[in-house]
Amino acid sequence: MNNLDITGLDWNLLWKQAKSKKTWKSKKAADWDKKALSFAKRTATSIYIDRFIELLNPQPEWSLLDAGCGPGTLALPLASQVRKVSGIDFSKKMLEILAQKAAEQGLDNIRLHHCSWEDNWQHHGIAPHDVAVASRSLAVVDLKAALVKLTAHARIKVVITDRVGHGPFDPDAFAAINRPLSTGPDYIYTINLLYQMGYLPKIDYIELEKEVPYADEEEALQGYLWMFRDLEAGEKKLLKNYLHSITTFNRDGSVTVKRSSPPIWAFISWTPVNS
Ligand SMILES: C[S@@+](CC[C@H](N)C(=O)[O-])C[C@H]1O[C@@H](n2cnc3c(N)ncnc32)[C@H](O)[C@@H]1O
Repeated sequence: MNNLDITGLDWNLLWKQAKSKKTWKSKKAADWDKKALSFAKRTATSIYIDRFIELLNPQPEWSLLDAGCGPGTLALPLASQVRKVSGIDFSKKMLEILAQKAAEQGLDNIRLHHCSWEDNWQHHGIAPHDVAVASRSLAVVDLKAALVKLTAHARIKVVITDRVGHGPFDPDAFAAINRPLSTGPDYIYTINLLYQMGYLPKIDYIELEKEVPYADEEEALQGYLWMFRDLEAGEKKLLKNYLHSITTFNRDGSVTVKRSSPPIWAFISWTPVNS
């Protein structure tokens, strides 16, 4: 039997290597700009929000930093539960949607910073907060650098959510159009890296809905198209057929899509003091 030893493993390097093999390349700010509206719509009613907030257990006195805040999936509901929220995102469109919704909801304790993970946050006036959160937003080149940075910006707690396995991608949809799916490193790398960095990460899991409601088949298709790049006409037809096969048609004209493997997110938290 081989004499295996995990102590010499460099989990950040393993993560980078696994990331370089994934079929789906990370999106740039302009890509997120284009997807901002549909993303905001898709996530606004997801059970992810309630489950995340329940696990976070926000306290009224907290200041909270939300890195990769997107259209305010969490920043908006959390703003009414904590003292103040700072949101960071490199997509201007995402921040515009967040700002508009905050105004509509009369929230005046959210500050937004248009910058990226890689920018110098100090130069953007971003100081440490009580709690630092990165929800589904660790789209970075260097995971360790991002974790170090986020931890340095938290006094009480750091929370991230990371993919479990395929995450939000539907493997059956990829199989249906005969495309390989390799989504890259998931939370197991992150957990091991945090352990190596001297933290004691806690893990919970957020399992999303198996059945997702859409206004109609076209909206359901839009809810799937983001998973693929450069879809050819033949592939789109196969995708439509697959979606049709997992769709139930409701009396009011709406549809329900039932996927066999719903997304699971690992909710990972740790205290920002090296043990
Ligand atoms: C999947 S969305 C998550 C949004 C929100 N946190 C949520 O859980 O719904 C990822 C967000 O991270 C942002 N993002 C991705 N890479 C980034 C980077 N390098 N710097 C800053 N923001 C980034 C995107 O613009 C997008 O708004």
